[in-house]
Amino acid sequence: MMDIFSLKEKVIIITGATGLLGSQHAAVVAEAGGIPILLDLDQNRCNHLAIELKQKFGVDAVGYKVDITKEDEIIENVALIKQKYNYIHALVNNAANNPKVEDSAEKAFSRLENFPISVWNSDLAVGLTGSFLCAKHYGYLISENPDGGTILNISSDLGLIAPDQRLYRKYGLPENLQPVKPVTYSVVKAGLIGLTRYLATYWPDKNVRCNAICPGGVENNQNPEFLKEVTSRIPLGRMARKDEYKGLVLFLLSESASYLNGSIISADGGRTVW
Ligand SMILES: NC(=O)c1ccc[n+]([C@@H]2O[C@H](COP(=O)([O-])OP(=O)(O)OC[C@H]3O[C@@H](n4cnc5c(N)ncnc54)[C@H](O)[C@@H]3O)[C@@H](O)[C@H]2O)c1
Repeated sequence: MMDIFSLKEKVIIITGATGLLGSQHAAVVAEAGGIPILLDLDQNRCNHLAIELKQKFGVDAVGYKVDITKEDEIIENVALIKQKYNYIHALVNNAANNPKVEDSAEKAFSRLENFPISVWNSDLAVGLTGSFLCAKHYGYLISENPDGGTILNISSDLGLIAPDQRLYRKYGLPENLQPVKPVTYSVVKAGLIGLTRYLATYWPDKNVRCNAICPGGVENNQNPEFLKEVTSRIPLGRMARKDEYKGLVLFLLSESASYLNGSIISADGGRTVW
């Protein structure tokens, strides 16, 4: 690994770390010599991933059950991390409620006119409030690091463009039952772009940078009809593989991105260009 991409001994917090993409972010951190701190809702899954990364890459890795919507759990975890490592270098705000609309039939509740306030509150609690709370506490800890560090927010192509609701249509269903991508996804992902710009200018004197990536959809056993439709809207003609964001994540967390701050980077096969 070239030095400018090394994360050697850098302590990096990843939220939603055991999910589809979180585990990829964690793997690239470990592969580059960093110490991934895995936060998610299930302690067993966190432990399992930490052991796997330790064995595979020979680095320290540790997992904690932390619900990022609960400030007291974050405060408790920050105290533990501070005691164990003293400083941290980076935070990846990755956790989100991630509804797989395309695989579900008759999710009439996802429609705006039926959308339950409880789902709105829960989606915003994880995607926005959770990211704010992590920036507040882990971000502050980064600002105390004499070398500074970096915050990476995981937005989405749908933080930049509206969902094309035609993608989710189910043949034969009446209009009022047609599933749609929920409003919260757009709101959370666009909100993270605002949070990114805010944080990029908040601790510049402490050398804390903040950037966001806007990944396109990852291929993950979606039905062939959906795949055909979605890939026809992507200039590269395919969805992403789950490991295709590792290079970008590594770049943004490493010293090679030392002059990137407040950047909102699309990584979507060209979807938002069309
Ligand atoms: N998968 C995609 O196609 C895609 C595309 C663009 C952007 N993204 C974004 O990438 C990120 C990761 O997506 P993914 O596909 O890996 O999703 P995922 O559902 O596989 O993982 C999300 C993880 O977040 C965790 N989580 C949920 N609530 C939490 C909470 N309160 N506290 C701590 N952890 C919590 C879940 O347990 C889960 O492990 C999300 O922000 C998502 O919106 C994903």
